[in-house]
Amino acid sequence: MDTAYTIADLRKRLAGEKSIALVPTMGNLHAGHISLVEMARRRAGCVVATVFVNRLQFAPGGDFDRYPRTLAQDRWMLEKAQCDVVFAPDEDEMYPQPQQIHVTPPEIAKPLEGDFRPGHFQGVCTVVAKLFNIVKPTVAVFGKKDYQQLAVIRAMERQLDFGIEIVGGETIREPDGLAMSSRNAYLSPDERQQGLTLSRALAAAQASVAAGERNAAKLLDAARATIATARDAKIDYLELRDPDSLHLVETLTGPTLFAMAVFVGKTRLIDNRVLRF
Ligand code: PAJ
Repeated sequence: MDTAYTIADLRKRLAGEKSIALVPTMGNLHAGHISLVEMARRRAGCVVATVFVNRLQFAPGGDFDRYPRTLAQDRWMLEKAQCDVVFAPDEDEMYPQPQQIHVTPPEIAKPLEGDFRPGHFQGVCTVVAKLFNIVKPTVAVFGKKDYQQLAVIRAMERQLDFGIEIVGGETIREPDGLAMSSRNAYLSPDERQQGLTLSRALAAAQASVAAGERNAAKLLDAARATIATARDAKIDYLELRDPDSLHLVETLTGPTLFAMAVFVGKTRLIDNRVLRF
């Protein structure tokens, strides 16, 4: 496995590759990221993973400075997963002067995360567009853990004609249901237990829907009650939305996205599930 730290070195390494699959990450890799590398492995001759903590997508005063940076361990995990190339630029390499051109995200970036993290998706779109131009992949893989991010990137790919196939990977969970996330490292053991209420609420909603419940307000009330059992939980949002348009749903008529963001103590967790019947 090769590691490139500059755009010039990466382009040199990738020259002549016929099919490239890209997996963008911010590092501190876990089994969720690795599952995306494995999907990428099946889709192209050359797999490129990027490790870059993108300041543009963090709020001022957010966790940019304390976001875990673990490149040596990340490289080891990527090598084991048969990744071909790691691109790990520093900030000056990605943003040599203040980045003055930004990608304005589409309408579907406005609710949910967009509501609570102003500027977040503009930062995500800008860095992902740059990575698409730097790597020129045939395929790029993103996780459904960040459901709205995947939808925003699909829209950006279509509307800016990148000609890249966007593939979504399922959310990988800990055995007890907690969705894997680099931010789980911030949780104390007690907070981690409280964090289980998110996946429990989603599982309970799926069970209610399977049993015939179609009323969004009732499903949301039940989920709110489950999350309220966690002492230090504070809900940012808890919403049922159409999985394509992300419009709010009042009565379920088909597959419906249940998306949530909840602070447990100081750590913000997100999770989602498409409810099906
Ligand atoms: P990061 O949070 O590091 O996530 C990188 C990729 O891994 C994203 O596509 C994310 O959806 C996916 N992922 C995270 N947790 C997962 C899990 N438990 N199961 C499956 N996939 C999971 O998302 C970002 O970085 C950044 O916004 C990025 C796209 C790299 C742009 O900076």
